Amino acid sequence: MRLLLFFVALPLFGHDVISTKVTWTKELSRLVGRRCASCHDGKASFSLLDYESARPWAKAIKEETGNRRMPPWQAIKGFGDFKDDAGLTQEEIEVISDWVEGGAPEGGPKWLPARSLPVRKAAPVKVRGSWQPGKGGKVVAVKPDGLKPGASAQVVGELPDGGIVPLLWIYRFDSKYLRTYVYRTPVELPAGTRVRVSPADAGTVTLFQ
Ligand code: HEC
Repeated sequence: MRLLLFFVALPLFGHDVISTKVTWTKELSRLVGRRCASCHDGKASFSLLDYESARPWAKAIKEETGNRRMPPWQAIKGFGDFKDDAGLTQEEIEVISDWVEGGAPEGGPKWLPARSLPVRKAAPVKVRGSWQPGKGGKVVAVKPDGLKPGASAQVVGELPDGGIVPLLWIYRFDSKYLRTYVYRTPVELPAGTRVRVSPADAGTVTLFQ
């Protein structure tokens, strides 16, 4: 009798087999926080902020990241040097894949990262057409939040000596994928620099200094 029960019970356990050490609380919560949470916050797009929200999307997450469709990146590469412009690293894609293939386990709550990351305070400046920073300054990030739908626009700093600093080049703007582009190192703009959005009627961008 005992033996029979054992065999009957097996398929039930078989369902939830976890075959990976990668967990939500340890690895995935941090990776998603870094790479996906800016959009998948439940407002801009559906939430991936906690295990309960993310678990039903596990297969789709593997698919979208494996095909490099997520995270989306609208800026033209090589024009401005941004923190995460390479998309996910191969290692990050594999961590996600291991987690999903291994049953997408949650893991112990003690590993969860602190809830909110400190947001760096930066003064925003809206740039329409062109803008000249009085005493010069550093730009830490740029957000194309006022571009017209479908607009392609270049943002450059024109230096007093005639040099050009590439800041951002967006190809066919789609507000669905709006994000803040953070420079790997803040861009120094000497006094006399003029920041220009072209074409001038493409709309506005916000610089953070
Ligand atoms: C710049 C914003 C942004 C970032 C960053 C981003 N996403 Fe998305 N994601 C979206 C939007 C918007 C959609 C909805 C797509 C649509 O409606 O066409 C989406 C859709 C998805 C979907 C559903 C695709 C489907 O329809 O089956 C998955 C899964 C997903 N994202 C996972 C991720 C993961 C994982 C990350 C981080 C590695 C990520 N996304 C980063 C904006 C973003």
